[in-house]
Amino acid sequence: MNPAARAAALFRASFAMAPGAIASAPGRVNLIGEHVDYHGGSVLPVATAERTAVAVGPGRGRLRAVSEHAPPVEVPWPHAAGRAWSDYVAGVAQQLRHEPVLADGLAVAVASDVPIGVGLSSSAALGVATAAAITTWAGRPLVPREVADIAFKGETEYVGMPCGLMDQLAATHAEAGAALLIDCRSLTIESVPLGLDLVLAESGETRGLRDSAYGERRREGAEALRLLRPSFPALLCLVDIPPARLATVLRQLPPPLDRRVRHVVNENQRTILAARALRAGDHAAVGTLVNASHESLRELYACSTPRLDQIVAGARAVPRVLGARMVGAGWGGAVLAIVEPGAGGAVAAHLRADKALGLPAVRVVRPGSGVAVEAYP
Ligand code: GLA
Repeated sequence: MNPAARAAALFRASFAMAPGAIASAPGRVNLIGEHVDYHGGSVLPVATAERTAVAVGPGRGRLRAVSEHAPPVEVPWPHAAGRAWSDYVAGVAQQLRHEPVLADGLAVAVASDVPIGVGLSSSAALGVATAAAITTWAGRPLVPREVADIAFKGETEYVGMPCGLMDQLAATHAEAGAALLIDCRSLTIESVPLGLDLVLAESGETRGLRDSAYGERRREGAEALRLLRPSFPALLCLVDIPPARLATVLRQLPPPLDRRVRHVVNENQRTILAARALRAGDHAAVGTLVNASHESLRELYACSTPRLDQIVAGARAVPRVLGARMVGAGWGGAVLAIVEPGAGGAVAAHLRADKALGLPAVRVVRPGSGVAVEAYP
């Protein structure tokens, strides 16, 4: 059964009624453009075929949430964030609290094939699917940008994870078979045909982003901007620094802020170049840029781990791998290998058989499409 059918069945079994609506949304893998979305930079995510489905209905005065993967939650409604998985649902519902359908609480059933805590943004898939399901149930047409905004606010304002907008936009706007070049400042989105195979190797190191150094990196970025403003009053985002002036700008920053800013400016350029190379079918160039992205994340942004570095080195040594890097926020999670077209299966098998790497899971990423309202019996 697909996640939508499972969410419907779970909803009926748990709440003894039919859901009001069901929606689903994909996870995402970011080809390149890591830790630049919250600095206004460009990112290049691909949605996964794995999806999260959320069924919603009346909660009889409470927030009742059940999931295939986590213990059930039942709390008063409205509800304050409590570090439970259901915060991702409650944060979205909080944004939509003026919808009449939510006056009497909310019942939610979640079914998902998106692995949790490995850098595939299971949280954005959950938030986006929840927002789409509630707005559909409320009888409002689905507007993907609005759904992304609601899920983003739920995660940043309620859950308290200071993420950028990449994951939510990827989950709402993705097209099967294509990457999305998203300019996170202008929010323009272009589709870029993929034409490459992608292999994702889980490290076995999971991390909750709420507890990671992610917030620290955001504070460092804000501090760098504050220090640069007197000399560059027009600077709104770090990606506004022209690469040609980077060396001059960096001289004004103490370590480690200079390293963080160097990563952001160069990674943004790499993303734009990678999108151009993908369109031109220059796969070798994409691989080189992906490798450079990893070195920068490791040395300058300091968000890799020895385990991720080991997997990256192992993946790069496999025939027909064009490049490899840590993917997602880092500090654990997964490694993405960019692979010659058609070689994904062979590369995944090679990595699975590598006893020294001892990878818990290796998958060929099948590109999926964005948020969808699901029919159900
Ligand atoms: C997490 C965040 C994204 C982005 C990445 C790093 O996935 O949710 O907004 O910042 O980390 O690129």
